[in-house]
Amino acid sequence: MKKTTPCFGIVIFLLCIGARAEMPNEPAEMSLDARLSPSGHWSAFTGGNASTPPMGWNSWNAFRTEVDEGKVMGAAKTIVDSGLAKKGYRYINIDDGWWLKRRQSDDRIVIRTSIFPSADLGEKRDTSFRPFVERIHNMGLKAGIYTDVGRNACSQVWDLHSPNLPEGSTAEREVGLWNHLPGDIALFFEEWGFDYVKVDACGIADYSASKEFVSEFDYQSFEPLIVRGDLPSTDVAAVEGLYRNLSATLGRSNPDNDYILSICTWGTANVRSWGKNHGNLWRTSEDIRNSWDSMLHVFDSAVTRALFAGPGNWNDPDMLYIGHGDFDEDHLTEAKSHFALWSVIAAPLMIGFDLRNAPQSLLNIWGAEEIIAVNQDPAGNQGVLAYDGENAQVIVKSLQNSSEKAVLLFNRSAEATRVTLHASDLNMRADTPVSLRNLWTRKDQYRFVGEKIFQLAPHESLIFKATGDRQLKDGIYLSEIPGRINVAVDGVDTLGLDPKAHRRLSLKHNPERSGSAYRQHYPGFGGPRVNASPYGDSITLDGEEYRNGIGVLANSRLEVKALGQFDELSVFVGIDGNTPGGKAKVEFVIYGDGEEITSTSAEGVKSEPRMLRADVRNVDVIELVARQVGDGSSPVIVAWADAVLDLKDK
Ligand code: GLA
Repeated sequence: MKKTTPCFGIVIFLLCIGARAEMPNEPAEMSLDARLSPSGHWSAFTGGNASTPPMGWNSWNAFRTEVDEGKVMGAAKTIVDSGLAKKGYRYINIDDGWWLKRRQSDDRIVIRTSIFPSADLGEKRDTSFRPFVERIHNMGLKAGIYTDVGRNACSQVWDLHSPNLPEGSTAEREVGLWNHLPGDIALFFEEWGFDYVKVDACGIADYSASKEFVSEFDYQSFEPLIVRGDLPSTDVAAVEGLYRNLSATLGRSNPDNDYILSICTWGTANVRSWGKNHGNLWRTSEDIRNSWDSMLHVFDSAVTRALFAGPGNWNDPDMLYIGHGDFDEDHLTEAKSHFALWSVIAAPLMIGFDLRNAPQSLLNIWGAEEIIAVNQDPAGNQGVLAYDGENAQVIVKSLQNSSEKAVLLFNRSAEATRVTLHASDLNMRADTPVSLRNLWTRKDQYRFVGEKIFQLAPHESLIFKATGDRQLKDGIYLSEIPGRINVAVDGVDTLGLDPKAHRRLSLKHNPERSGSAYRQHYPGFGGPRVNASPYGDSITLDGEEYRNGIGVLANSRLEVKALGQFDELSVFVGIDGNTPGGKAKVEFVIYGDGEEITSTSAEGVKSEPRMLRADVRNVDVIELVARQVGDGSSPVIVAWADAVLDLKDK
């Protein structure tokens, strides 16, 4: 364990003891064999109330720290009066800026009552959000609060001129959870009655002794656990440990399970891989800004991560910026694309606009019922890239009703472009008609056989619900149900930064800028993908490309929620032709509820793909294990290709 505070001198030594006490016990590092052993159950985080992506409003993108009660209640009122509440927007979330200080006599946080007057309990000499939360609850809504996993918050670093920064002594300004976890969580959830918490991480990232503002404003320094832009210096295990502890504490404070944990480490510290083990949503990127290239950047950080999302756990590419900058009233094409993209990748839908003054044109976007229905589809499958071109992308989201898919055709560029939709992109037959319903106009619009070409205006997207005859009449591809797959072990043994999540934007995409400043800073590269190999190539076994399948590294274990609904799993397995080097051998094993059902012997690189058939009748959780045998270079890329689950009760 890396230490978290430099320990010099007696005073700081005592602080160090406090700091260490806060550090969670890390689970002992498990051996690879143990990690690849079947768990026999679904092991992602199942706590909290997020069976579909959370929807609501958050103060940050509209007001930064200049939030106040009138603004928040105004948003809540519009959410109800405009009908957005009935369409699913429920959470009214206060972001940074609400706190005044941590009272030293009893460690309780004092609310800034000048901006939240109802929190002033007057003669009781205390402050409480209870009256505010009750008003929100009485409107049929739920309430969310914001904090930081470290001692201090993000505004104290990034909004130095804010009028709403915590005040007082160094200790009074330590408003974060560090050393105060059980007390603060009990205050937020048990006393005040909140239903949602967003937990930021600047306190463990930005307060190193070398930063000028730290001494200038007399903050206690903190040796960063997250070193921004420097993965090797980031203590991934310690960061995960803090959120693991937090998650357990929240569970204890919420016996009714009616809560949501939003993890906010901006895609760093490998959260894109472990967020689903501890929380309901986790940010996959840095903050969204109100520009087209920022929106693309944060979208790219989530779009390849379908296997990490599903009911209860969601990739969070950050809140909506609709209404501002490149997505304002004069840019409805861009605003609509932003909304449709978030919907099709099952991202949380958090409005970030001053709703006291919302024009109808924007309310129509947030309120587009049939697009919300795509986002909120109960199967919880995140959309998957079916085509990923230079200018255009096609994203397909499998819906609960297996003869329907949502499909988004998206023009990233500032030029008109053409894109072709193939029936096969939808896993539908190419010889019978496919119908497309336009989800903005809510009209059945097209019918085609085989393929159809579309012309897209700059930045335009078209979103349809497609209905047609399935390619598989009596079964479903595993790749059509990513929401039912948990990546228990991803096979990544050396963390790498994801170069695909920072596409450098050309002038063509963004005529006003000469390129973007986005760097690669999100670990998780090499994680499993749907219908692609882990580094983004086509799944290839023995020279043949497979359109359907899961591409993953060897030494991985995937859990599939079968729920006794299938008869048989059939799948082609082998080492993917994109694997560098030629000596590796891998064995593939399929388990049902912890018992081995079938396996291959060790397969070499040039072996023909092997077909495995597993009887999965009455199996709750299927596990797919690919284990590298003997020596050989790594990483070894493997595939579970054309994996088909036969449906019972055909
Ligand atoms: C970070 C988060 C933002 C917001 C601010 C508040 O930057 O990523 O979403 O909460 O902090 O200061």
